[in-house]
Amino acid sequence: MSKKRFRENVRNQLQMKDKERVKEETEAVQNRLFAHDVWQKSSVIALTYAVGDEFPTKQIIEQAFNEGKRIAMPKCVPETKDMRFYEIEQLDQLEPSFFGLMEPDPDQCKKIVRDQIDLLIVPGLVYDRKGYRIGFGGGYFDRFLAGYRSFDTVSLAYREQLAAERFPNEPHDQRVNFVITADEVIECQ
Ligand SMILES: Nc1ncnc2c1ncn2[C@@H]1O[C@H](COP(=O)(O)OP(=O)(O)OP(=O)(O)O)[C@@H](O)[C@H]1O
Ligand SMILES: [Mg+2]
Repeated sequence: MSKKRFRENVRNQLQMKDKERVKEETEAVQNRLFAHDVWQKSSVIALTYAVGDEFPTKQIIEQAFNEGKRIAMPKCVPETKDMRFYEIEQLDQLEPSFFGLMEPDPDQCKKIVRDQIDLLIVPGLVYDRKGYRIGFGGGYFDRFLAGYRSFDTVSLAYREQLAAERFPNEPHDQRVNFVITADEVIECQ
C-alpha cells in the first residue's frame, strides 16, 4: 500500500471513530505523556497546533503552561520547506496561516533555535513500532529531524494510527524516539 493509501485509510478510520472513545483515548495518551520522564525533564516543548482529526494539542499546551514549561511552535516556510520556531506565551499569539493551520505570529513572538528545544512532539498520521511515520506529505518534519538532534521526539497516536503491518518508508524518512498510545509508551530506538 502506498503512503497515500495509508493516509486515506487512517483519515477515514479517525473520522468514523466514536467521539466518546476519542475522548477516553486522548486522556489516556496525555496522561502517559505527562507521567513520562521525557516530558517531566523538558522545559521547552515544541509542537504544532493540531487541527481536524489530528491528535489534539491544546490541552498539552495548557498543561505545559500550568507546569511552568515553555512552548515553541513552528512556522512553515513553503518556499524552502523549512520550519522556524517561535515561543508562544499565550494562544492568541497564533494566527491563521496556510492550509488552515494556526502558526505563531513572528511579530509577537521570540525566535527559538533548534538547540533550545528539549522535546519535539512530532505530528503525523500513521506510525510503526520502530518510530517510522507517515506525515501529511510536506516533508517538513523529515527535513527538520534530519538535522542535528539535541532534543527528544515523541508522537502521540490513537490506536488506529499505529500500523500493524510494515508500511512504506523512504530513505529520507526520519524516526521518532517514542510513540505513545492509550495502551503503551513504545520506545522506538
Ligand atoms: N531531508 C530532505 N531533503 C530533501 N527532501 C526531503 C527531505 N525529507 C523529505 N523530503 C521530501 O519531502 C517530500 C515529502 O516527504 P514524505 O512523503 O515523507 O512526507 P511526510 O513524512 O508525510 O511529511 P512530514 O515530514 O512533513 O510529516 C518528499 O518528496 C521527499 O523527497
Ligand atoms: Mg516522511
